[in-house]
Amino acid sequence: MKVRVVQDDATTVETDGLIVNLFEGVTAPGGATGAVDRALDGAISELIANGDLKGKLNDVVILPGRRGVRATRVAIVGLGKAAELNIDRIRHVSAEAARALRGRGARRIASIVHGAGIGGQDVAESATATVEGALLGLYRFQGYRSSDDTVDVEELLIVEREAERIPAIEKAVERGVVLAEAQNLTRDLQNEPANRLTPTILAERARAALEPFGIEVAVYDADWMREKGMGALFGVAQGSEEPPRFIELRYRGGDNGPPVGLVGKGITFDSGGISIKPAEGMELMKTDMSGAAAVIGAMQAIARLKPRRSVVGLIPATENMPGGRAQRPGDVVRTMHGKTIEVINTDAEGRLVLADAFAYAQSLGLRPVVDLATLTGAMSIALGRVRTGVFTNDDATLRVLLAASERSGEKMWAMPLDDEYFEQIKSDVADMKNTGGRPAGSITAAMLLKKMIEGTPWVHLDIAGTARSDTVKGYHVKGGTGVGTRTLVHFVEMLSADGTS
Ligand code: BES
Ligand code: MN
Ligand code: ZN
Repeated sequence: MKVRVVQDDATTVETDGLIVNLFEGVTAPGGATGAVDRALDGAISELIANGDLKGKLNDVVILPGRRGVRATRVAIVGLGKAAELNIDRIRHVSAEAARALRGRGARRIASIVHGAGIGGQDVAESATATVEGALLGLYRFQGYRSSDDTVDVEELLIVEREAERIPAIEKAVERGVVLAEAQNLTRDLQNEPANRLTPTILAERARAALEPFGIEVAVYDADWMREKGMGALFGVAQGSEEPPRFIELRYRGGDNGPPVGLVGKGITFDSGGISIKPAEGMELMKTDMSGAAAVIGAMQAIARLKPRRSVVGLIPATENMPGGRAQRPGDVVRTMHGKTIEVINTDAEGRLVLADAFAYAQSLGLRPVVDLATLTGAMSIALGRVRTGVFTNDDATLRVLLAASERSGEKMWAMPLDDEYFEQIKSDVADMKNTGGRPAGSITAAMLLKKMIEGTPWVHLDIAGTARSDTVKGYHVKGGTGVGTRTLVHFVEMLSADGTS
């Protein structure tokens, strides 16, 4: 989709669908909405007077255009109560309005920047959010249907009247495009079925998406893993006929602090292995590479936004399958840093592949390290589908991560990680075991990771509950959500600003 900023007036911009907005409880609209209302002979005020238009958050009412405006139709989207407006609401509102217009067949849409006038929000941030919302809300996975009669929006215009605001808005709009395209790249990878996204293909897709932007992409095979002594990753991989890959992505942004490590769980399909999962819902395990996808998406945005800090993305990619060579419950594996793990349940494979990725991250001197993983079903028992659980061994890094999530609108919640939880994963035969029973399942999983990253400041995001959506709401659409992508980008930007780790 083409996104452009135009200096124009809401009443004169030519488009299939113009988006203006309304706060809840406003009876006489002002600004662009007021101008459009006057051009439409008071049609908007009349709707309000009749109680057909209330400005409730995310409500969209569509009117015919013509008369005094050049738009074919006008969408009035509700901003909700003025006092409750925030940047994330702007994203959602923008998404709802854009989708409503697409539903009417509009191919060219135009929007004013939401929330910047009497809304009192920062103009640049609002412009970024307006674009992010529209592009995320209009996202559709291309898929594999042989006939497809859906119409896509081809052009989004951001309309601004004041000439002196245009340069700032142009910059902000470009930023929105970069961030939303990165998140939609993450979603594309998540939504791909596992036969179309093997570890080999994931590596090729990473190369295709990142090399054009200057990211260095290195892809390692099973022999390399064996040489490195990555026994935990190898244990998972050996049950699959599909060869594993270890993907290393490098962005050179200068030596403003050590390179930041972004690690993503890349299980392209999780059958559970010998501890096989029940059939029902197993198809959803094609998204068990959502952490990897978010790292790839984030690296693309980082390459385009160019923060002054180097970043290395690491992705251990493999299937988890119950083949003849598969590891067995009770097996003991050894990680690259020489720690031993008793594999009680082969379905707790995420922590195994991350363990070796962490050892490698440490060998490269990356700090801090952030990992994203669809790690535990228990995460959605704890926090549902609303918030991502975050775990850490370093409060300073956690604060930066939470500030980044505030900026992205991706809701997170800090979980505890007291040493007492280690009791649950003590093993009789190895340094630890890979499951700790049902109580606090997400925390004991994170505890194993904590042992594997000792000495490095680290934050772990368990995105098992938030990586997928079953509903369409605001900028969330069905399927992969792309969660984590924008938070990672903001996180790196914040670290590059102060240069610390
Ligand atoms: N990939 C799953 C976790 C998951 C479950 C993600 C549901 C998204 C939705 C992970 O590999 C897994 O199987 N975890 C087990 C751990 C258990 C065996 C200790 C789980 O959560 O059941
Ligand atoms: Mn599993
Ligand atoms: Zn898994």
